[in-house]
Amino acid sequence: MTIRVALIGAGVMGADHARTLTSQVPGAELRIICDADAERAAVLAAELEVQSVSADPQAAIADKAIDAVIVAAPDAMHKELIFAALAAAKPILCEKPMAPTPQDCVDIIAAEVKRGEQLIQIGYNRRFDPAYWEMRDTWKAAGLGEAIMFHGFHRNVSAPPWFDSNMAVTNSAVHDFDIARWLLETEIVSVHAFRPAMFANGGIGSPVFLVCQAASGQLVNIEVSNNAAYGYDVRGDLVCRNGTVSLRPPVNSELCTNLQNSISYPADWRPRFVNAYRLQLQGWIRSIHKGKPEGASAWDGYAASACAAAGLKSLASGQAEKVELIAKPSLYGK
Ligand SMILES: NC(=O)c1ccc[n+]([C@@H]2O[C@H](COP(=O)([O-])OP(=O)(O)OC[C@H]3O[C@@H](n4cnc5c(N)ncnc54)[C@H](O)[C@@H]3O)[C@@H](O)[C@H]2O)c1
Repeated sequence: MTIRVALIGAGVMGADHARTLTSQVPGAELRIICDADAERAAVLAAELEVQSVSADPQAAIADKAIDAVIVAAPDAMHKELIFAALAAAKPILCEKPMAPTPQDCVDIIAAEVKRGEQLIQIGYNRRFDPAYWEMRDTWKAAGLGEAIMFHGFHRNVSAPPWFDSNMAVTNSAVHDFDIARWLLETEIVSVHAFRPAMFANGGIGSPVFLVCQAASGQLVNIEVSNNAAYGYDVRGDLVCRNGTVSLRPPVNSELCTNLQNSISYPADWRPRFVNAYRLQLQGWIRSIHKGKPEGASAWDGYAASACAAAGLKSLASGQAEKVELIAKPSLYGK
C-alpha cells in the first residue's frame, strides 16, 4: 500500500521534506502541497510533479484521498493542524515545536489519548541523526560507565529579523532538550537560563545558556547562539565516569593549503541533518505501514515545550525553574 501524503507548509522545511519524500522514501506518494502562498505551492508541485495544490489546510487534511499529513507550517499553526489530523484519524509528522505552550501540548495529548492510538510524531530529527546514534551506542558499548554531564552547542550563522529573543529557547533549544532526554533516557526536571550581560535585554538572536538538571542526576548545559556568524554548527560532549564521547559532524573533505588544514560549515541546518531528515521520513512512513510509532511522540513534544517554558520563566526570574509535567499517560509507555 502506498501512503498518500498531504504537505502543509511549503517553505524552507516543507520544500526540503517534499523533495526527500518524493525521491528517497519508498511506500509514499506526495499527493497535495498546501500553502497559504498559492504560488509557492504551485511552483513546488510543478517541480516535483505533484497532482494537487491547495491553500486550505483543513480541506487537505480531511481529503479522502489523503492517508497522512506532514506539517511544516509556522509554529503557531501546529496545534490546530494536529487537531485536524486527529479528527480525521490520520498519522501526522509535525515539525517542532509541537505547540507554543505546555498547556497547548497537554490539550493535544488529551485528544490523542482519547483516540487511544499514537498518530502524532514530532520532527525532532536529531533522534534520527547517525552522529547521535553513534554517540549513544559508543557510550553503551565502550564501557564508559554512568553518564554525568551532557554539553550541547547549537549555533546558527544569523537569526532572521522575526526570530525574537524567546525563540532561542522555544524554537532552537527545544531540539537540545529533546536530544538530551533521548540520550540520557530521562526527563529534565529544572532549567536555569542565563544571557551574557551584553544581551541582558534580549534582542533578535541573542544567545542563551541553559543549565538543566535531569531526573537521573546528570547536568545538561546548552548554548544557543543564533548569530554565531561562522556557520551552522551543532556540537555535543557526553561526559561519563570513564571517558567522554564527542559528536563529530559529518565531514567529507578537508582543505589542506598554505600550511593549513580547514573544513567548511554549512550555512544552515539542512546539509548538517540531511541524513536525519531522510531517515526521519523513512521511519515515519515505515511506522505507518507497520502501525508502530517511531521517533518523538506527543509526550516528547510536550516535554521539550515544558522545558522551554521553564527556560523562559527562568530568564524572567533569574532563578532555576522546575519543569512541570503532568502524569505520563500509559499510551506513551513508562
Ligand atoms: N526540524 C528542524 O530542523 C527545523 C528547522 C527549521 C524549521 N523547523 C520548523 O519547521 C516549521 C516551518 O519552518 P520553515 O523554516 O520552513 O518556515 P517557512 O516560513 O520557510 O515556511 C512556512 C510555510 O508555511 C506557510 N504557511 C503559513 N501560514 C499557512 C497557512 N495558514 N496554511 C498553509 N501554509 C501556511 C508559509 O506560506 C510558508 O511557505 C516551523 O515550525 C519551524 O519551527 C524545523
